[in-house]
Amino acid sequence: MGVLKRYGANLPISEKTPLVNLEEGSTPLVRLSRVGDDLGIELWAKLEGCNPSGSFKDRGMVLAVAKALEDGARAVVCASTGNTSASAAAYAAHVGIPCYVLLPAGKVALGKLAQALIYGAKVIAIDGNFDQALDMARSAAEERGIAMVNSVNPYRLIAQKTGAWEICEFLGRAPDLHAIPVGNACNISAYWAGYKDSKKWGNISELPRMMGFQAEGAAPLVTDKPCPNPETIATAIRIGNPVSADLAKDAVRESGGEFNSVTDEEILEAQLILAREGGIFAEPASCAPLAGLLKLRKAKKLPEGSKVVMILTGNGLKDPDTAISQVEKPVKIGNSLKELLEAMV
Ligand code: F0G
Repeated sequence: MGVLKRYGANLPISEKTPLVNLEEGSTPLVRLSRVGDDLGIELWAKLEGCNPSGSFKDRGMVLAVAKALEDGARAVVCASTGNTSASAAAYAAHVGIPCYVLLPAGKVALGKLAQALIYGAKVIAIDGNFDQALDMARSAAEERGIAMVNSVNPYRLIAQKTGAWEICEFLGRAPDLHAIPVGNACNISAYWAGYKDSKKWGNISELPRMMGFQAEGAAPLVTDKPCPNPETIATAIRIGNPVSADLAKDAVRESGGEFNSVTDEEILEAQLILAREGGIFAEPASCAPLAGLLKLRKAKKLPEGSKVVMILTGNGLKDPDTAISQVEKPVKIGNSLKELLEAMV
């Protein structure tokens, strides 16, 4: 029914707020028995790739755009590693206002670029990384007096809490461990705030431990210092100076969780396992949590039998190039039955 309708009573909206709705949220929470059994845990995956623009960003974007409209904004702007721009462009198109997106040139997955373009955003590729694009977008927003819809926009974080509320309603409790990829560190902060709300409302009695996973080449929260030249195949989380670093550190400390990093190889291996043993295709950044759980299991640090929810933040179809580059290609044959039967080994 859309985030603003389903959770409006707990979000900062009034009768003046337009109820923007692309039927975002209410995403499936799926039990992954095969993968979970191998890890010795009860594993659940929240399929945020089922949101209208294919990532978790829609939960926060719907409120950010609704509030921008309420405040009379003429346009929205964002910097992005890809998903924020796809989401912003979709909602801007839906409500009929222009959208400007700044992307790090050559470092955005093909599907995400296609989305921003087809939704009709003005796409500007900068010669720099996400952190630099974010600074530029902020200055441009001020200069032009238009709404900034990155996660520095407080409404994004507030409405992203709905993911945690859904998990608690669905399971009737919080998981023992909440595993999530971390880039700009907004989502982990939002989930932690959301779990705390659920506890305050009496929907859960225990809070989860927050486990944040970063790519080894872009792991400022693991090393505890900004990373000037972030690099990873998981371009969604190719971020060196997370805006919500302090909130995320609080979440991990308060919950008794931890930040951990995984290599690009481990991320790709996890993507294959998720696809071939879970039947779910998630983009590389979304596979960092599973890579992390596998790593913890190997180190005998994953508590046996624990209930674990991992957030699959983005749909695998957003980055077809990375997926295709690591699997066997289709078998080519002529058009005879003989050749077909030979190929069906
Ligand atoms: N997973 C995906 C698929 C993402 O697109 C992002 C962030 C994250 C995880 C990390 O979330 O930033 O809240 O810690 N993508 C942003 C973007 C930065 O521009 O689309 P975070």
